[in-house]
Amino acid sequence: MCGIVGYIGNKKSAPILVEGLKKLEYRGYDSSGVALLTDKKIEIIKAEGKLKNLVEVLANYTSAQNSSHIGIGHIRWATHGVPNELNAHPHMSNSERIAIVHNGIIENYKELKISLEKQGHKFYSQTDTETIVHLIAQEKKSAKDLKSAVQNALKKIQGAYALCVISLDEPDKIIVARKNAPLLIGIGEGENFIASDIPAIIEHTKKAVYLEDDEFAIVKNDHYEIYDVLSGTKIEKTPEILPWEPIALSKNGYKHFMLKEIHEQPDVIRKNLFNRLVAIDRPIILNEVKLSPENLKNLERIQIIACGTSMHAALVGKYIIEEYTGIPVDVEASSEYIYRNTITNAKTLVIGVSQSGETADTITAIRQAKAKGSHILIITNRADSTMARDADSLICVDAGIEVSVAATKSYTAQLMSFYLLMLYIAETKGCIKTEEAAKIKEQMLQLPQKLEEVLSHKEKIKECARIFANSKDFIFIARGINFPVALEGALKLKEISYINATGYSAGELKHGPIAMLDETMPVLAILMKGRVYDKILSNAEESKARHARLIALTSSTDENLKSIFEIIINVPEINEILSPVITTVPLQLLAYYIAEFLGKDVDQPRNLAKSVTVE
Ligand code: M6R
Repeated sequence: MCGIVGYIGNKKSAPILVEGLKKLEYRGYDSSGVALLTDKKIEIIKAEGKLKNLVEVLANYTSAQNSSHIGIGHIRWATHGVPNELNAHPHMSNSERIAIVHNGIIENYKELKISLEKQGHKFYSQTDTETIVHLIAQEKKSAKDLKSAVQNALKKIQGAYALCVISLDEPDKIIVARKNAPLLIGIGEGENFIASDIPAIIEHTKKAVYLEDDEFAIVKNDHYEIYDVLSGTKIEKTPEILPWEPIALSKNGYKHFMLKEIHEQPDVIRKNLFNRLVAIDRPIILNEVKLSPENLKNLERIQIIACGTSMHAALVGKYIIEEYTGIPVDVEASSEYIYRNTITNAKTLVIGVSQSGETADTITAIRQAKAKGSHILIITNRADSTMARDADSLICVDAGIEVSVAATKSYTAQLMSFYLLMLYIAETKGCIKTEEAAKIKEQMLQLPQKLEEVLSHKEKIKECARIFANSKDFIFIARGINFPVALEGALKLKEISYINATGYSAGELKHGPIAMLDETMPVLAILMKGRVYDKILSNAEESKARHARLIALTSSTDENLKSIFEIIINVPEINEILSPVITTVPLQLLAYYIAEFLGKDVDQPRNLAKSVTVE
């Protein structure tokens, strides 16, 4: 997490840095700061909290702003040290001649800190990052220049980093480095830019080079040189043209990005089906899958690795792939996958699912699987991400940029990728009847319209939000294909409202969680017509008998439900296997309206970041 930007050229650096940081706020908003290099000094300006606080403070530094044409900036998601001004980046050497910004985690910072303190360096923050600047300063004492000092320091640090370094002694350059954290150099005319992600620089240039792990670069205003950290060898790279247009991010009249993004879902589905599902009697076209039909038929298993909401989409994927292709599927949180001996080989298809394509745990997991010979299929919303670059097959979900930290439309788009993939595999293997596939496809094509129906009847959801907004806890129950939706509904609610929400398999309630039920506990049951309808209804009755307050999210119009449920949120009927698309959206809205009712920061909930780039 954290976002970094850098500028070197003839323009004033501060506004470019601030604008860049604005585009990176999705990576964290605990604090922000800039270091502006002027003739006389490095001016460090920082503020706790959101970027707007930095903008206010910056107004007091007009002289530095007017005279600085080189600068680095940072937006922080705290890892080491509380989110306050002291721990905000940039960090400076004791001589105040070197400043750095950092994204990542330095794992051996404690040992380094002890040794640096012994050598006289005084630390002011609780961050791991501060170690790097003191280490560079220490190396600088014996190195011939800043480049060698940085290179020597990089050899001594372990962990993940994207770094920008500036020095008063060599005011014509920014030194940047990368290991397991994204960084790109945007190439301009007589000016260059550095950023963690494209949106921060796309207004200025479409030409860029990506730094790879263990590379560092000297960036001047008219050129850049890239080197290998270990060998010091110079690396030639041809700049790429970024696949992006500058976009003005707008809420389109909605109060929050989250609400806007929820409403974009019908169109997201249309986009994902376009050119892939061309007719219900024609096979799915998924040219993105590069596994040969032969290899696909010979697959022994599939492993899906993801985190958070993406993992919930993966759980739906497991359900449908197993149901229709007969291939065993495991879903695992990336953070668990990476610290055990996973049984993965060339006959395992490994699917990484990630909105951002930058989630550190998922990147590590897919690289681990790749090393064992598995074909890596990535489902992501970012075709330019690290995961996309590592992929053997890449399905870009095309949800469009998602600003709200709480994922909504990217999840629906991921679900669509799984439906398409499931049909593609089943049709390639010949294990689904044409009529059955046609029935599913027909209903898939109806999904946008049915979702529009859901989105135009929000009264009940708002009423439910109003009634239950002050609940301390919230339980979601479901079974079968909607169990992941119960998990997702709970995640959405806790992310943005901070209510302690949990999703349970309805059948598991009686094995423990039922003990928590009383007249204060809302239990929302996802009750879609299909094979487990009656079972969930019984579980809901069991909850009712323990005095819980029952809410139904249902496609049933059975009048008898009124005697069990305090609130009934109706959704259109749909083939059960597609129902997660329909059931998730009311839960996104419920979370939204509860958070909004409570006056929470919906788009940027506390403690979170959109892209989790640390393990
Ligand atoms: O970018 P990714 O899909 O890999 O991110 C995974 C999770 O961090 C993400 O889904 C997170 O749980 C969201 N905030 C959910 O709303």
